[in-house]
Amino acid sequence: MDRIRIVGGPRLEGVIPISGAKNAALPLMIASLLTRETLTLENLPRLADVRLLLRILGNHGVDHTIAGKRPGELATSGQTLHLHARDIVDTTAPYELVSRMRASFWVLAPLLARMGEAKVSLPGGCAIGTRPVDLLLMALEQLGAKIDIEAGYVIASAPKGLVGGVIDFPKVTVGGTHTALMAAALARGHTTIRNAAREPEIVDLADCLIKMGARIEGAGTSTIEIEGVTSLGGARHAVLPDRIEAGTYAMAVAMTGGDVMLQGARPELLQSALDVLEHTGARITTTNEGIRVARNGGGIAPVDVATAPFPAFPTDLQAQFMALMTRAGGVSRITETIFENRFMHVSELARFGAKIHLEHDTAVITGVPNLKGAPVMATDLRASVSLVIAALAAEGETIVHRVYHLDRGFEQLEQKLGACGAIVERLSAPD
Ligand code: EPZ
Repeated sequence: MDRIRIVGGPRLEGVIPISGAKNAALPLMIASLLTRETLTLENLPRLADVRLLLRILGNHGVDHTIAGKRPGELATSGQTLHLHARDIVDTTAPYELVSRMRASFWVLAPLLARMGEAKVSLPGGCAIGTRPVDLLLMALEQLGAKIDIEAGYVIASAPKGLVGGVIDFPKVTVGGTHTALMAAALARGHTTIRNAAREPEIVDLADCLIKMGARIEGAGTSTIEIEGVTSLGGARHAVLPDRIEAGTYAMAVAMTGGDVMLQGARPELLQSALDVLEHTGARITTTNEGIRVARNGGGIAPVDVATAPFPAFPTDLQAQFMALMTRAGGVSRITETIFENRFMHVSELARFGAKIHLEHDTAVITGVPNLKGAPVMATDLRASVSLVIAALAAEGETIVHRVYHLDRGFEQLEQKLGACGAIVERLSAPD
């Protein structure tokens, strides 16, 4: 199993190109199931989750081709992917595949909307919490689907097609909103989604569906209106830049000090995190090229943060921000309101000498002047990158184990950080 070795200390200086967003790419790829025509996605990140989803979609009959590198394109330029679901050959998504990536559960809505039936394994819990799917199923039921659970599988049917309705989410859910959008796009009549998630990835999916012929208004607000159409066509769409990747590197720079241009990052996608970083003492400037983050001299000021749905501070940056706060000049409190168990990084950060204790859903962090490198183990995607951030500023050597978590969501992490002066290398030797 690969590991990553980091020697902490160097400031980060240079340019980091920001990749296409994993959490936009996955639902966009799944949307290819909605049409017989070709969906072309540009700026697709090279990630393990993308490769796994291609296998899962292939199982349903989706053909794909990935365009080769064009002259002048860099190794970090996003890929172009053509997806073609001319015929759906199988409406079942088996446990072996869905259990490896939760987002693959989202194939349920397009399979049901197009084929009138789908059988998809329940995804189960994961390192960050129980993560139920009751609201996704409720959304489909509101559109007339019959849902049964048998032997760990959701069996959904709508033999005469889905019918528009009102979906009122009691809680903001990204996956629920993706599900509702894809299902309602092909339902007969009008659908209203209330208390919809407003995340940029929702807007990206809606934009792509509109290019495919869907009639959607209000994506990016709490109320989305959809007028169903009988079929959707092909489209070409560029995946939006990854706000979580951008925020992660911004925190890395705030941690080590230095000056980095996050090329292609869009400030409006992560304004709350940028505001918080400014309060910690980082200098943020935005240009046509992207977001520039600098911290030259001066310490890291402690700031209290609570995660919440967009546009508030994202749960997917919570672990990275906690890493930063371990070296703040004082006490900070980080409250996690989205997932009940997203503090697995706390005990690993402690291995660097960080002082953190948990009070229910809140981590109380007392900053220390120095961290010390250590062997640490990644537990989930964002937690593992928080360990990388700590390692970049720790004295001496850190070995991060279970790097496959990082590979799920961070493209060319070692190359991107290495190009800015970090001492980081992948060790491919067995554990
Ligand atoms: C998406 O997960 C992201 N995943 C997550 O990123 C992200 O942390 C999360 O949204 C919140 O922003 C992808 O986009 C692939 P939710 P999702 O439904 O859609 C509860 C990462 O690291 N809930 O918005 O699964 C749920 O338990 C990942 O990239 C129900 O109760 O999240 C949570 O408390 C991790 N019932 C809250 O809603 C349901 O049916 C929000 O979850 C569904 C959700």
